Amino acid sequence: MDKCIPLVDELVDREKRHLNYLRISITDRCNLRCLYCVPEGRIPKLGHEDILSYEEILRLVRIGIKLGIRKVRITGGEPLVRKGVLDLLGELTRIRELEDVSMTTNGVLLAANAQRIFDAGIHRINVSLDSLNPEKYAQITGYHQFDRVWEAIQLVREIGFSPIKINVVAMRGINDDEILDFGRLSLDYPFHIRFIEYMPIGNSRTSSREQIMTPEIQETITALGTLIPVDSGNNDGPARRYRIAGAQGEIGFISALSHHFCSRCNRLRLTADGKLRACLLSDRHESLKDLLRMGGSDKQLAEIFRTAVRHKAAKHQLCPNGVTTVKGQMQGIGG
Ligand code: 5AD
Ligand code: SF4
Repeated sequence: MDKCIPLVDELVDREKRHLNYLRISITDRCNLRCLYCVPEGRIPKLGHEDILSYEEILRLVRIGIKLGIRKVRITGGEPLVRKGVLDLLGELTRIRELEDVSMTTNGVLLAANAQRIFDAGIHRINVSLDSLNPEKYAQITGYHQFDRVWEAIQLVREIGFSPIKINVVAMRGINDDEILDFGRLSLDYPFHIRFIEYMPIGNSRTSSREQIMTPEIQETITALGTLIPVDSGNNDGPARRYRIAGAQGEIGFISALSHHFCSRCNRLRLTADGKLRACLLSDRHESLKDLLRMGGSDKQLAEIFRTAVRHKAAKHQLCPNGVTTVKGQMQGIGG
């Protein structure tokens, strides 16, 4: 039962950023092997006992809410591969204080779950889709699942999810020939296409050689028409949003490297193994899991949230084509 709790906004960092958004990776497992996320060979997987249970996650969310968290996104790995995720979503949407609960998925298992996700109260969804060409999709992800994901995207549109955001990591020599095709999607469908700059996180099979910065993508897209800026709402996150005149959808750019959005960052991340990271692009983290399992009180756990926030860097140290990378693997942090 949710108790009536005072609304105190305590998660304010040294830069006066209000951290009210918690992204939660519920599993490091995934049914795809995207080039930019998964390295060669086998990667060690977290064991069942290493991963936070749903009860533990919900407890941490409630503590976060007392500190001012108002928005939650469920990520992975691939969240839909974890058993019971629909129940978790239902529990989260029942928490009155949460103004927004959403999910990022690769879409492979989306069609089978879409109606139940919608009925659980999740109406916004982000789907990763890096190619509109089934063969290339298989090269990037390692699996022939394009048709399934595309059908799922059409289905969530019919069900009424809105907005439907399509995440595209632009990579030179891999999918850069599809930038215009993705741009055109925003003309014909009400989708928000979001071009994400590749970030050097963990071991993967891509590198800064494949990185394409937003200005270059933007330049290419203008062949479709002028990009008209869209006013971003308060809760809107890092994407810089545009619309082409007459388009049903939007085009957004998430430019972590070419255009730091650190000064507007309102995020904390809870990793699958119970660590709190105040910045995706820094390996610094605080462990919540040990204290949780040693019987730590809500007050002590809240103190860990505060410590993470105190140490949130003013801005990240990565730069385009730089040598600095983040060691943690994306699958367990959750993008
Ligand atoms: N750089 C940029 N984006 C990435 N994603 C996963 N790994 C990376 C990376 N190294 C994206 C996925 C997903 C989102 C959560 O993060 O494509 O859409
Ligand atoms: Fe899976 Fe997402 Fe990583 Fe692709 S980017 S392998 S879909 S976790």
